[in-house]
Amino acid sequence: MSENTIKRHMYEDIKDELLLTREEIAERVREMGRQITEDFRGKDLTVICILKGAVVFFVDLIREIDLPITMDFMAISSYGSATKSSGVVRILKDLDKPINGKHVLIVEDIVDSGMTLSFLKENLISRGAASLHIATLLDKPERRRVPLKADYFGFTIPDEFVVGYGLDYDEKYRNLPDIGVLRPEVYEK
Ligand code: IMP
Ligand code: MG
Repeated sequence: MSENTIKRHMYEDIKDELLLTREEIAERVREMGRQITEDFRGKDLTVICILKGAVVFFVDLIREIDLPITMDFMAISSYGSATKSSGVVRILKDLDKPINGKHVLIVEDIVDSGMTLSFLKENLISRGAASLHIATLLDKPERRRVPLKADYFGFTIPDEFVVGYGLDYDEKYRNLPDIGVLRPEVYEK
């Protein structure tokens, strides 16, 4: 089976039309990069990728930021079912370098209940960051259980489970270049 055939099978699990095409995503990521470049000019910026979901967005976004940034990675897992997070967050891989005195930008794939990011925000502020901002590609405001506002967000989306462009269901679909709503049959069976 060729790689294209396998990807076509993954697209068959997507409901209706794509929610966001790769072109729409690229255009929005460019705008976000321009805004971040303006806002952090002259500052020492550390951009933190939250693994694994944000990795595709991260590599695109940092290349649209025209500043001498440093990057770091953090892997977390939040307990819960496959499609809902519980808010209990565990650090699987911590940052390599201290962030005290640094201006920090957290890059996340999606804000859903807001639990993961509110944990992270508190955790990183307690390490003495000079400032802390959040960039998320997607935002599902209807699902918020704790108040959390991203400083930069790409798209507001409805309360549906989406995959692609880094976002997974059960570790699959991360390598789809576009974003679509997963057919509920896939996770209900
Ligand atoms: P929160 O703590 O509920 O805000 O959950 C955020 C995390 O849940 C994200 O980093 C994703 O890993 C995951 N998540 C939430 N909604 C979706 C979705 O629609 N598709 C894929 N992952 C999602
Ligand atoms: Mg995830």
